[in-house]
Amino acid sequence: MHAIEQYRNEFIGYLGEKISSKEPTKLYDPVIYILGLGGKRLRPVLTLMTTDLFGADYRQALDAALAIEVFHNFSLVHDDIMDDAPLRRGQRTVHEKWDINTGILSGDAMLILAYRFFENYQSDTFRELARLFSKTALEVCEGQQYDMDFETRDDVTIPEYLRMIEYKTAVLVGAAMKMGGIVAGVSTKEQDLIYDFGKNLGIAFQLQDDYLDAFGDPKTFGKQVGGDIIENKKTILYLLALQLGGAEEQKQLLDLYSIQPRDPEGKINSVKDIFITTGAAERTKEEIEEYTQKAFRILDTLQVSEEKKSVLKQFGEGLMRREV
Ligand code: IPE
Ligand code: IPE
Ligand code: MG
Ligand code: MG
Ligand code: MG
Repeated sequence: MHAIEQYRNEFIGYLGEKISSKEPTKLYDPVIYILGLGGKRLRPVLTLMTTDLFGADYRQALDAALAIEVFHNFSLVHDDIMDDAPLRRGQRTVHEKWDINTGILSGDAMLILAYRFFENYQSDTFRELARLFSKTALEVCEGQQYDMDFETRDDVTIPEYLRMIEYKTAVLVGAAMKMGGIVAGVSTKEQDLIYDFGKNLGIAFQLQDDYLDAFGDPKTFGKQVGGDIIENKKTILYLLALQLGGAEEQKQLLDLYSIQPRDPEGKINSVKDIFITTGAAERTKEEIEEYTQKAFRILDTLQVSEEKKSVLKQFGEGLMRREV
């Protein structure tokens, strides 16, 4: 296995070779823009690492990794429209820099572009990758719909929330890794294990995303801090605060989540106070740790060297500690 940076650099080089703008520029410029804003490149790195983990040449997985990252960026462009988000990776979102129609159509183009990268594989591998991709992409849509539905509901349960984040976020992390296994040609048993590892890591990842949305540092976070509170998102912080809080805190939180003030500063600060005083913020941290450890236990059952497992564990621990 290589250092995580090496997979990332190789991926970024490949992305630069394969994606360039053309006519009509209003369709393709936003594609270049969003993909060029960077991001952590977590999913493609996991695809490449998984192929390597299973003993194949990780460069064979570059097209699958690219498909995953282009799909992820497509989902962000549409997600930012749906969440009315002004900032992404420290820059203006596509629909703010251009307009909503541009975000819709450039996003659509990215979804198709993503699919085309699978055409570079021979037929059996192509079929397996495309099948997994279609299933996963539809689940992401389902997760995104639940996320939107929950904004206007005040009876969302934690199991419902967990299913929602499994679909909107975790299955893509699982699929990114499973694709690495498909390219390496491993058994379905190994593919399923690595998928489950990725899925649990993905759940931890979305819990951390919820945490950072409220408690991240605005100078480095790259997204609007408090965006979930403004949109009345039923995040893990909100659901735990309702569960752990006393009657007064519950009432305050429900009230705060029923208003849409023009200046959201006061609402954001009051909600964050409740997240802290109820212990929801601390409990969220524990849940993140728990799902990460669950992922590691799955990894332990995999028949590969300890040295290779430790690179993945290092990666998972890095995600848990991240501030972006
Ligand atoms: C953001 O994903 C969307 C979520 C699923 C939380 P990332 O946090 O991986 O975004 P980038 O690609 O690093 O910007
Ligand atoms: C995003 O969830 C999941 C997808 C894009 C499918 P969020 O809405 O929490 O992601 P961010 O916080 O905007 O990156
Ligand atoms: Mg969002
Ligand atoms: Mg969203
Ligand atoms: Mg978020």
